Formats: sequence, C-alpha cells, structure tokens
Amino acid sequence: MIAPSILSADFAHLADEADAVDNADWLHVDVMDAHFVPNLTLGLPVVQSLRKATALPLDCHLMIDDPDRWAPGYAEAGAANVTFHVEAAHDPVQTARAIRRAGALAGLSVKPGTPLEPYLEVLKEFDTLLVMTVEPGFGGQKFMAEVLPKVRLAREHVRAGHLRLFVEVDGGIADDTIEAAAEAGADVFVAGSAVYGADDPRAAVEALRARARGAMTG
Ligand code: DX5
Ligand code: ZN
Repeated sequence: MIAPSILSADFAHLADEADAVDNADWLHVDVMDAHFVPNLTLGLPVVQSLRKATALPLDCHLMIDDPDRWAPGYAEAGAANVTFHVEAAHDPVQTARAIRRAGALAGLSVKPGTPLEPYLEVLKEFDTLLVMTVEPGFGGQKFMAEVLPKVRLAREHVRAGHLRLFVEVDGGIADDTIEAAAEAGADVFVAGSAVYGADDPRAAVEALRARARGAMTG
C-alpha cells in the first residue's frame, strides 16, 4: 500500500491535496506536538475535517507526548489506523486496546535508534508496525537503510505466524529507496516529498506502487 504524507502538501488546501492522490491506499497524517519532535503540525480538529473531505482511509501518525491520553480520540474521529510512538507511551498495550475499541487499527512506531526486540510480545496487540526510516519531525530527509534489519525481523515474525501486522516504513521513501524497503519486507510505504514534490502526484503514487510490487515479487 502507498500512503502519501500530507506533511509535504499545501496545508491551506488539504482537501484538494487529498483529491490529488485519490489512487493511494491510505492518506498519511503526521501529528506533531513540538514536544516529542521539534515541529508542530496539526491535531484532532484538522483530522475531523479531513475525514469529511476525503474517502481515503486516514493513517494518523502521532509524534506526540502522552499518546495514551490522545490516541483514542483519533480513532473516534474516524481514522483507519492510529499509530503512536513506543518511546512516548506509558502503557502501549492499553492504548492499543483503546484504539481498537474505538474502531481503528492500532499502530506502534519505533524511531531509528529504538530496537524492536523488547517489543515483539507487545506487538501482538497491534495491527501496524511503523518503522521510521528517518528521525521523526520533518519531511524530505535522507532514507536510513541501516534500520532495514528491523523491517526484516518484523517480517520474519509475521511469516512465522508470531505477529499479524502491516509493516510500514516512513521517511525518505522514493523511487530509489522503495525497492530496498519492499525487499526487506515492508508492505506499507509512506511517501511525502516523493509524491507531493512530483509534478503529477497520482503518477508518482503509481510509479512507487509498481516499484514496490516488482521488488516484492521479483
Ligand atoms: C516525518 C514524517 C513523515 C514525513 C515523510 O517525521 O513522519 O511521514 O512526511 O516525508 P518524506 O517522504 O519526504 O521523507
Ligand atoms: Zn509519518
């Protein structure tokens, strides 16, 4: 699945920017609070409005402190998937359960320096693992191939039947990096600048999808 990130879109025209990628699978919405990351973007009111403005499933990526308190509200607002950071969470399992009770998929995200091994058991309560392939906070950064072993590890656990998860990658995904992520076992690909920086965002989504498919089957 391809999930364009509206972080790289024009925030004054979000409905149009969502329409511009109506061939995507999810619309990735980066929520930042200027505490967990050194950037401030948007919050619940914008997600509530976006929900009415597009038919695309919303993939909310919460880069915020105290997600235990705030994450279920995004599920209640109609997000399809709500991902929060393990580094910020106090009780990831309870928060995942609250998200699922509110009707969304629950996602757990790890920053590049956060190992996966300590969370393999906790991940049984989740639908999505979001492996950050840049330091969270900003679009347009360079892809960190050194985190791909975490994608491989997660995929092995899914193949072995220990976990049932989407394995999502976020950060620096573009034509020249998506294949490596797909080969490692990712199946959801966030792309901000590679989609919204393109002359034709729809065509960029198609091109990324084709490359990822080729790498998964080939
Ligand atoms: C970064 C965000 C990403 C960002 C990706 O903290 O989580 O979703 O939009 O942007 P690109 O694809 O430009 O790296
Ligand atoms: Zn993101």
